[in-house]
Amino acid sequence: MAQALAVGDDGRVVAPVVTSLGHAGLRIDAPHLTMLCDPWMSPGGAFLGSWFPFPDNSHLRRADVLSADWVAISHEHLDHLDLDLLRELPERVRLVVPRYPAPEMTRRIRAAGIRNVLIELGSWERLALNDRGDWVTVIQELSPMCHDSAILVVAAGHAILHTNDARLSVAQLRRAAQEAGRPLDLMGVQMSGASWHPICYEYPPEVVASIGADKRIGKFKAVSRLLRAAPPRVVMPYAGPPCFLDPVLAHHNERMAPPGIFPDTAQAAAFLRSRLPGMAVEALMPGDRIDVGTGVVDRDPRWDGFSLAGSSPDGTLDTGLPDTLRDYLRQYAERRAAEVAAVYAANPDPPRGSGLAQRFADHFTELGALSDYFLHRIGMTVRFVVAGDDGGTWDVELGPSRCRVDLTGSTSHPGYQITVEARWLDAVLMGRVRWEDLFLSLRISAWRDPDRYNDYLVGLLKHADAGALAAVESFEAERNPNDSVVLTEGGHGWQVSRYCPHAGEDLTHGAVIRDGVLRCLGHNFDFDLATGECLNARCDPLVTRPLGSPAVAR
Ligand code: FES
Repeated sequence: MAQALAVGDDGRVVAPVVTSLGHAGLRIDAPHLTMLCDPWMSPGGAFLGSWFPFPDNSHLRRADVLSADWVAISHEHLDHLDLDLLRELPERVRLVVPRYPAPEMTRRIRAAGIRNVLIELGSWERLALNDRGDWVTVIQELSPMCHDSAILVVAAGHAILHTNDARLSVAQLRRAAQEAGRPLDLMGVQMSGASWHPICYEYPPEVVASIGADKRIGKFKAVSRLLRAAPPRVVMPYAGPPCFLDPVLAHHNERMAPPGIFPDTAQAAAFLRSRLPGMAVEALMPGDRIDVGTGVVDRDPRWDGFSLAGSSPDGTLDTGLPDTLRDYLRQYAERRAAEVAAVYAANPDPPRGSGLAQRFADHFTELGALSDYFLHRIGMTVRFVVAGDDGGTWDVELGPSRCRVDLTGSTSHPGYQITVEARWLDAVLMGRVRWEDLFLSLRISAWRDPDRYNDYLVGLLKHADAGALAAVESFEAERNPNDSVVLTEGGHGWQVSRYCPHAGEDLTHGAVIRDGVLRCLGHNFDFDLATGECLNARCDPLVTRPLGSPAVAR
């Protein structure tokens, strides 16, 4: 890859070159540094054969592209932590990962047989990458409920922020530039949702469309606001969407078109260009390279004649994906059919008498002993409808103060219901995947009543670790409700707690108000400004006080 480096008049390399590896994967080539960030290329995809890189990046899975001194992995999601790929790296390659409150990510790496040197970094802790002044740090999301991190690399005097899935606050973004000692030269931003809500929920189609549209535009706007507050020199939408090559999931590919929650990078780039005129916006295809010094992009000829949905010459997206893209996805699915079949073979339907129900009960008994704090805040019964020879309808009462499994499924009013095939549930119970992997696989359906997100339920399942849950409890206990900020809408003003009761977003910059409802842009929780109540999630209320007269504009 060295031939891609920009050289000055004196023949010396002057700036890093970043190559898109597809999805959130990056390769950084600098005069004294080669680093990969979140390379995801294994042919089996991720999340139980559900997600695959879009478009296909397999042409980059070759030694000259993957040869590097360092690999930085942002978090444990399998579209970032490609264990099969990491297993093939030479032993000399050093791995850099964030230090999260639970050791799950490092456990997964070691359990996969990866023995490379593994360096864990705390937020803002710098690691020198050589003796030429290049360094890396990680920036974790504010709340330990979310184990997501951006990675900041400073190489050859240039700053590259690999934001991937991390939702940084304005303050964090500004500090990143401060730490780098210059405006960020290149910033990757994720603008395509990766959530099972609303698409796995048993809503009528029009409700899925409405929530999806809201999420799509909400994400676009949140990223635009962040960029406006701390503009990088070049912004690069990336890190999604994935595509779905298992025929039973292929309908989710249609969600790339509006109002779906999986807009492609061309749509994201078009939005940013319209909202942020003057900012350089570059969407890279796998194999495209950008000179971080000049901003000049060198396109991979492989994509000549290929169009993403958002840049298709076939017309508008009003009627869904262009036929050319559907053909592309069909052919891609044919190439991966064996890998998808292998996932089913590796996760067979447990036969009658396999003991699935008892494994389920034991699993939740263990989970229920991890944190009273979480149990108290979950406070509901979750019903699992498990399809398969050894399935059944099983209820789990989670809190307050107890966890009780009822294998007769006799609860009259469960607050949440998850329907899942026994083969995928057993993959979780046997430790082949984790709950969040299952949810992200989209191989479930769900409903809830009331229709409110329960962050603590998802948190308990996804972390399943006493240390990780205790870290959330400490973080939430240490918040100072007396730290407040004045916000206004029209002629009304409210004094509200400065930091969001969910995950600590600074509402000075991270909120919008409409019709007396404050939306925190951290994760789009809505708070009634009259009562402070969270309207769409299980969350502590916002401390709020109406002001008698119009307050000072923020
Ligand atoms: S920080 Fe998550 S909604 Fe506010």
